[in-house]
Amino acid sequence: MRVLAISGSLRARSYNTALLRAAAAAAPEDVEVELYEDLESLPPYNEDRDTDDPPALVADLRRQIAEADGLLISTPEYNGTVPGQLKHLVDWASRPYGRAASLHGKPVAVIGASVTDYGAVWAQDHLRKALGIAGARVVEAELPVARVAERLDDGGEVADPETVESLTEIVTALADHHRELVAA
Ligand code: FNR
Repeated sequence: MRVLAISGSLRARSYNTALLRAAAAAAPEDVEVELYEDLESLPPYNEDRDTDDPPALVADLRRQIAEADGLLISTPEYNGTVPGQLKHLVDWASRPYGRAASLHGKPVAVIGASVTDYGAVWAQDHLRKALGIAGARVVEAELPVARVAERLDDGGEVADPETVESLTEIVTALADHHRELVAA
């Protein structure tokens, strides 16, 4: 199974991106996790540019999502909601409207990290809602990682055993969801 991992943070030393690297390392053997690299360069959503010939990075995003068996998205929380650039990604991937959208029917797990006590729960809730409206199959399992800065090793990677175990569980839940879909 191939999972496309998308971090909602553009920061080089992002905790959310570190969480996805840890998820890739903690994933079951038969799950390959690949990080999406182009969020910063993705143009803002513009319906005028959403034609049969969309911007190249949009076409590439939609292809990468279509080719993945599932998505793992880690979102920071900015002012109580999803960072703007991540919302642009969701909006591009939600079109063309309906079954042709790359997000339609796609298994997605949402996780998130914050330096506060709350673990980006509002942003995760809002992201789940938007993904659901776009037709994605959002897995029930949730993972709010609070006080993430305390969970890093000396190299700045997420390494605490409790978080790593939770990451294995959520990637496994995503893989199970994919298998159920294939079997149905
Ligand atoms: C934040 N931060 C933040 N944290 C939170 O728990 N709730 C919030 O509403 C906000 N709002 C917010 C707005 C803006 C503009 C910034 C820059 C930051 C803190 C945020 O969780 C923290 O910077 C994380 O470390 C960002 O995630 P990455 O970049 O480390 O993945």
